[in-house]
Amino acid sequence: MKVFVTGGAGYIGSVCVQALLRAGHDVLVFDNLSEGHRQAVLDAPLVTGDLRDHSLLDRTLREYAPDAVMHFAASALVAESVENPRKYYENNIESSLSLLRTMLACGVRRIVFSSTAATYGVPEIVPIPEDHPQQPINPYGFTKLVIEHAIRDYARAYGLGGVILRYFNAAGASHDGRLGEHHHHETHLIPIVLQVALGQREHVKIYGTDYPTEDGTCVRDFIHVEDLAEAHVRALDYCRDGHVLAANVGTGQGHSVRQVIETARAVTGHPIPAVEAPRRPGDPPVLVAAVERARRELGWTATCSDLRSIIQSAWQWHRAHPHGYEN
Ligand code: UFG
Repeated sequence: MKVFVTGGAGYIGSVCVQALLRAGHDVLVFDNLSEGHRQAVLDAPLVTGDLRDHSLLDRTLREYAPDAVMHFAASALVAESVENPRKYYENNIESSLSLLRTMLACGVRRIVFSSTAATYGVPEIVPIPEDHPQQPINPYGFTKLVIEHAIRDYARAYGLGGVILRYFNAAGASHDGRLGEHHHHETHLIPIVLQVALGQREHVKIYGTDYPTEDGTCVRDFIHVEDLAEAHVRALDYCRDGHVLAANVGTGQGHSVRQVIETARAVTGHPIPAVEAPRRPGDPPVLVAAVERARRELGWTATCSDLRSIIQSAWQWHRAHPHGYEN
């Protein structure tokens, strides 16, 4: 299939591009490089542009004439979305609506959409099933939920076919060690912990130690980015006109912030000092996926996402790329 990949220069998008190419697909990456890195687009052509640039998007889609779109491009930080919601409404809603409009105009009917566990809000049931109420507690989750609704409504009205993948916490690096997690302003737990191990930070802050969890810190479901990429390849095969599937992409296992730090200490051999800090606004206490639907519908299950393997893979990449994609 010919696949148009927005955000294909970003962390998850770039690993998915490689998985698509390995599966025999043809790929065109579209990225404005605001968060992505040119160096992360290894073997696919890249068009540098913004999804809100209607004429460029229209021209590019008409020329490439893809069979499907994978839409990764987005702003994706919970805390930032609380502080600067406008960025999220503009980047995540405006851009996605522009993409959907252009897809329909150009006759492209299949989409795999990057959604998030943050659409659930504070879960009432854990592991969280896909039909759990979606009541996001931060603007990031809300903007993703709006686009989930748009995809469903467009499927009903215009025959779009989609798979909505609700990611839990992506982490780790590509198996070949070439692609990893590099954000201009790092806020994610595992990269930060590893930056401490590299001597680039003095300590990691633990945001909240009074959550109603076993050790008082937040619990997350960490999914290896290569497992996540495989879920996208399966999702592409699943896409059917007029039908939308939403599936969690996680492992079904939760790990606390303290467990992550402990595992990173064991993997790196570094003491990784940790300092207790207040809760971070917008963080739900526990996010763990129910995984049966992805297994049943997509034939997908995580195979390399035990916490130690994830941290080992991330550690290997961070040691080899102490400044990410910058020399
Ligand atoms: N945390 C710390 N200290 C840090 C960084 C993070 O204690 O320095 C904690 C957070 O408070 C949270 C947990 O570690 O409890 C994980 O935080 P991350 O920032 O690594 O990830 P989030 O859970 O906030 O968000 C990620 C993605 C979102 C996605 C979400 C779904 O960034 O896009 O997972 O679970 F929606």
